[in-house]
Amino acid sequence: MKQKKIYVCNNCGFESPRWIGKCPQCNEWNSFIEDISISKKQAVSTKKISNNIILLKDISTEQEYRIKTEISELDRVLGGGIIPGSLVLVGGDPGIGKSTLMLQLCSNIQKCNPFYITGEESLQQIKYRSQRLSNVNENLLLLAETNVEAIDSAIKNTNSNVIIIDSIQSVYSDRVESTPGSINQVRESAMMFMQTAKKTGKSIFLIGHINKEGSLAGPKILEHLVDTVIQFEGEKQYSYRILRCLKNRFGSTNEIGVFEMTDKGLNEVLNPSEVFLSGMNKDESGVAIVATMEGERPILLEVQALVTPTNYGIPQRSATGFSLKRLQMILAVLEKRLGLNFSSNDVFVNIAGGISLDDTACDLGIAAALVSSLRDIPLDTKTCIIGEIGLTGEVRSVSHIENRISESAKLGFNTTIIPTSTINKIIKKIDIHIKSIDKISTLITDLFL
Ligand code: TYD
Ligand code: MG
Repeated sequence: MKQKKIYVCNNCGFESPRWIGKCPQCNEWNSFIEDISISKKQAVSTKKISNNIILLKDISTEQEYRIKTEISELDRVLGGGIIPGSLVLVGGDPGIGKSTLMLQLCSNIQKCNPFYITGEESLQQIKYRSQRLSNVNENLLLLAETNVEAIDSAIKNTNSNVIIIDSIQSVYSDRVESTPGSINQVRESAMMFMQTAKKTGKSIFLIGHINKEGSLAGPKILEHLVDTVIQFEGEKQYSYRILRCLKNRFGSTNEIGVFEMTDKGLNEVLNPSEVFLSGMNKDESGVAIVATMEGERPILLEVQALVTPTNYGIPQRSATGFSLKRLQMILAVLEKRLGLNFSSNDVFVNIAGGISLDDTACDLGIAAALVSSLRDIPLDTKTCIIGEIGLTGEVRSVSHIENRISESAKLGFNTTIIPTSTINKIIKKIDIHIKSIDKISTLITDLFL
């Protein structure tokens, strides 16, 4: 039978008979790739009658059983452990530590008889990696295979309850003729694993790469299909990694896990604030402490600002781990409302530890660090600064104020500066001095006069 050529959007799966530059469905540019249409016969199923209709009241709501991975940061992100029969997508940049995390998972759940299928690396490479880890499961089942049908029958023939596929982009199904990694292959393979997971009650982890735009390859389709999406993030030059949950059919997506990559694999970071503040530069100007929320968890971080006279024509603005637009906005507010002059200075902002901040509650801390560097006056290192800045120079309310303050108190800070509008939201008695402010000008008089 003659195969029909089509063009498929690599982002959302929209099909078109000819190539188009911009996808009409997801508005992505240049995302169409040539593919082969899956025969309609395969897609249209014959009429079937299902007798499995059930009343809502008859469904049991007993607490779902979860397999504890004993990696508490991973358990937390998964919503308390692995649900039997679930399909989990583990995303992240190449080299971030996905395979390492999954191998460590396999060492921790030996009772589930884990099964690791590699389509990317050789068995020797996996052996070398396992030798670096402190805890090794010598009885781990391994298979180097890329054919989905062969993998599927291997899964059904073993008595393992947790299966790792490394990676979804490297496997291919005989039923689709396009190349491995193409959207049709990824969809077909993931659908097959989904059916296997649901039918057998085995949990399957799919490792997936992130493309250069920062999303999972074949992203939307995979995200819709799987039960849970967790993503590994971090800057390669730093050792800290954040595991984030982007979708979870069985729990909250607010949780994050923090890890540190060491020479013996990934270590859990149970108290991130302590680690991020451990290398703090005391008594230097341009350093402020902020309290950000990562999901339900407050984390204290050091923000650094450097304001220096410009040597060449146009002043530079640079932000690492923080939005450049937000920095420009804060600078504009400081100039307009406080009369400070940054226009002949280069401004650099950096968040220590390679963390990305996108919590507006850190605005006030960043403003304080900027002014501290401009005037070359160090801030008190035992003060944590919390608050969002509005365009009129007002200090706006932020969420989870009590959690943020408690974390500061726990880490030995003696003062927090918070927005006045949040003061009546603090019900608990917290052993810390609280200063409340409503305008950014008050912050400057409080800190620098
Ligand atoms: P890996 O798990 O292979 O990443 P991914 O599967 O996401 O592509 O991790 C690769 C990186 O981690 C590599 O640069 C080496 C480093 N690494 C360590 O620093 N310590 C270790 O113990 C291990 C196993 C890897
Ligand atoms: Mg890998």
